[in-house]
Amino acid sequence: MCFSLLSPALSSAKPFLPLLLKPKLFNRFENKAYSGMEGYSTFRGESSKLLFRQLFEKESSTYTYLLADISHPQRPALLIDPVDKTVDRDLALTKDLGLKLIYAMNTHVHADHVTGTGLIKGKLPGVQSVISEASNAKADVLVNAGDKIQFGNMFLEVRATPGHTLGCVTYITGEGPDHPYPRMAFTGDALLIRGCGRTDFQGGNSHQLYKSVHSQIFALPKDTLVYPAHDYKGFTVSTVGEEMLYNTRLTKDEETFTSIMENLGLSYPKMMDVAVPANMVCGFQDTTAKVVASNI
Ligand SMILES: [Fe+2]
Repeated sequence: MCFSLLSPALSSAKPFLPLLLKPKLFNRFENKAYSGMEGYSTFRGESSKLLFRQLFEKESSTYTYLLADISHPQRPALLIDPVDKTVDRDLALTKDLGLKLIYAMNTHVHADHVTGTGLIKGKLPGVQSVISEASNAKADVLVNAGDKIQFGNMFLEVRATPGHTLGCVTYITGEGPDHPYPRMAFTGDALLIRGCGRTDFQGGNSHQLYKSVHSQIFALPKDTLVYPAHDYKGFTVSTVGEEMLYNTRLTKDEETFTSIMENLGLSYPKMMDVAVPANMVCGFQDTTAKVVASNI
């Protein structure tokens, strides 16, 4: 807090300032649980240039993220993990905000819902679909670790985070004056808030997921904001530092983690037989055929 923002009455009452400010400013950092969490932040990624919206699809509890560079004349935008059922909502919002959608991206081939990228491309032919090359899915742009997805003067960095599926990637906002601070990591199902995606199908591998999260996500600054593809408990955002302390699975050692993942006893995803074939042709699926398949 800047002292100049205090009222004259308060700024002349200096002897009382520590008492007045202590409960609000310092209690959080005196809490033992936060020790060692340098840079811990509860704030959203902020930038005067980034427009950011977190959107939700309630049937599959999926988050879709809208990012745009509103300092650029064309206001270029991208969507991460759009869902077919909420495409009209997402495109209406994009239009209301005066944005030019250029990319419809997926963090991986989803098994619990059909991606919205095919529908989006049908409605806005200039939009390009994006997914990782390692996913073996079809898209206009196939990305690999280290690639940058540019939108205006900003970009998302691609990090390979396989283990939930063989082609999972995490998209992270760039660094520098044009980018938001703290950085924002869109982790898909590799890292969920206090959990992670299952590893028992689609090329999943619990050892690989453990290594991915620890080497690619937990290596980021602790104040990096974590935005997952799903949440089932009402959480919206976390931080790397918070998950390093409180994630119920990934704070364990690798052996314990793999044991947990091998004994989850989860049922077969009900949408899997529809969603995975549709999502493997992400951005190119015949949407008419998909509707028929969904009615089976
Ligand atoms: Fe998934």
